[in-house]
Amino acid sequence: MDISEQKLIIAIDGHSSCGKSTVAKDLAKKINYTYIDSGAMYRVITLFAMRNKLIENDKVDENKLAHLIDQVSISFKFNKELQRHETFMNGDLVEDEIRTLKVSNNVSLIATIKFVRDKMVALQRELSKAGGVIMDGRDIGTVVFPNAELKIFMTADVEVRAIRRYKELKEKGENISLDDIRENVKKRDYIDENRDESPLRKAKDAIILNNSNLTPAEQLDWIVERMNEVK
Ligand code: CDP
Repeated sequence: MDISEQKLIIAIDGHSSCGKSTVAKDLAKKINYTYIDSGAMYRVITLFAMRNKLIENDKVDENKLAHLIDQVSISFKFNKELQRHETFMNGDLVEDEIRTLKVSNNVSLIATIKFVRDKMVALQRELSKAGGVIMDGRDIGTVVFPNAELKIFMTADVEVRAIRRYKELKEKGENISLDDIRENVKKRDYIDENRDESPLRKAKDAIILNNSNLTPAEQLDWIVERMNEVK
């Protein structure tokens, strides 16, 4: 049977800013699967916490967040005109705001909190019920879908990742320095790998993709080859 008809779950985990979402979106388009950006969910909760002034000096007011978190609803829509996936918080478009460096600087902190993770994982499973899903994140192949048919673990050199993210944010008009981005990338790697709750780990059965020297087209070809090997 053709892979598009098999409705598999494809899990892509890895370090921040290494192009997981680029390859996940390209692949989803190519094989007509649904793309789900789990990081966007943690970013929405972060934005919500920031707007409610629940984060101060790298500390989150977890009690207040626990009381308020059920007020947040997260949804995604594909914008055909702009040809992009967009994220909504309680019905409001927040796609650009959740990608700012301000949110990136706080998101890994929010992602360490167990009740936040439990809620996001439940939502990720709910949205994937029908299968035919490509999801990217940090714990997709280890925690969310340990039985995913294909698991990829992506990484790239820190400098390559920092430069990619720098270009992306500059193009969006954010006034940031490469040094600040590099620090953010390193700090998020550290927090993601060392937290107690679902730390970033390669699943035993995940295949490693280091894309430091690959173009988006080359990494897509690589992943399509891996997919064709799935039985
Ligand atoms: O796009 P980028 O790789 O920079 O990050 P993201 O996928 O938008 O995720 C933002 C942050 O959310 C990560 O640095 C992690 O701290 C957290 N995250 C997580 O803990 N678990 C996931 N499944 C996805 C993201």
